[in-house]
Amino acid sequence: MKEYKVAILGATGAVGREMIKILEERNFPVADLIPLASARSAGTKLSFRGEALPVREACPDAFSGVDLVLGAAPNALAKEYAPHITAAGAVFVDNSSAFRMSPGVPLVIPEINPEDARLHRGIIANPNCSTIVALVAVNAVRRLSEILSMTVSTYQAVSGAGAGGPAELAEEVSALAAGRTVSPSVFPYQIAYNLIPQIGDFLENGYTAEEMKMQNEGRKILHLPSLRVSCTCVRVPVVRSHSISISLVTKEPVSAEAARAAIAAAPGCLLVDDPAQRKYPMPLDTSDQDLVYVGRIRRDIANENGLSLWCCGDQVRKGAATNAVQIAELLTH
Ligand SMILES: NC(=O)c1ccc[n+]([C@@H]2O[C@H](COP(=O)([O-])OP(=O)(O)OC[C@H]3O[C@@H](n4cnc5c(N)ncnc54)[C@H](OP(=O)(O)O)[C@@H]3O)[C@@H](O)[C@H]2O)c1
Repeated sequence: MKEYKVAILGATGAVGREMIKILEERNFPVADLIPLASARSAGTKLSFRGEALPVREACPDAFSGVDLVLGAAPNALAKEYAPHITAAGAVFVDNSSAFRMSPGVPLVIPEINPEDARLHRGIIANPNCSTIVALVAVNAVRRLSEILSMTVSTYQAVSGAGAGGPAELAEEVSALAAGRTVSPSVFPYQIAYNLIPQIGDFLENGYTAEEMKMQNEGRKILHLPSLRVSCTCVRVPVVRSHSISISLVTKEPVSAEAARAAIAAAPGCLLVDDPAQRKYPMPLDTSDQDLVYVGRIRRDIANENGLSLWCCGDQVRKGAATNAVQIAELLTH
């Protein structure tokens, strides 16, 4: 089997560190792993297969001889390095939002549209984390009837804002317990014991950029150009795993029983739906694993042909690092 020289751009961050774990866990055929980050991290050691690999400072010629680059860095960096990565002949599987909506760049969730990955011209984009968690669940229902629209509310963990998010939550909890005031820097307001109904900048239509991703990326991934999604994204004081409430409107009615059976059989989903036993998905249970847990499935009493459900998934893993490694695996077949 061919082995690949793999670089991780942003190897020291929340997603980059998880990618290293997942490459090892899934036994991806890595010949050589090159962790890249900023000058601040150069020389830091990251462990891969029992070896301590030194982090190198990212620079334009860091990609020579590399087959695959997993992107786990901010948008601006992905845009800056993409031309150097593709010029070196490597495939760039990027987690930032820089290229997701670019024509010619496949946007892939391997459980949903693996065939799109083959159409790449050097860059494949990993979708937004909440979009991945929601669509893995929604795609199961879509097998029963076309999805016309969705009303979605997300409850997004602080680690979705990068490695600094959990650190800020922990610091605020300790500061408040000690009677000190807090001074948020990662989030615009105190996140401990609070909710912040803004993720991303506000657009002219009153939605945020994060909220519009659910519709825009959903249309591209599901190949449903007229899908309508009204989304509200909320940052919550949960360390890890995004939770999502979804009300779907389908073309034909879908019963809760049929939806449960479809979700139980769908790749990437785990049905956790036994209200009588108080069994439903919760973020503490879904962290540090790859399945999207789906429950609270019921007919929506406010919508003709409506179905409501609740799902949780680890956004650092399935919403980012695992999904990216799964995309890379598609390229090895
Ligand atoms: N966190 C999530 O749940 C999640 C989910 C889906 C997608 N994403 C996306 O994945 C990407 C990474 O997110 P993250 O949460 O892992 O962020 P993070 O924890 O803040 O990590 C950012 C990484 O980028 C590196 N970096 C920053 N500036 C750099 C520079 N000038 N040159 C070289 N490297 C630089 C950092 O290196 P240093 O350590 O040296 O600063 C670090 O390795 C982002 O585009 C984010 O939107 C994140």
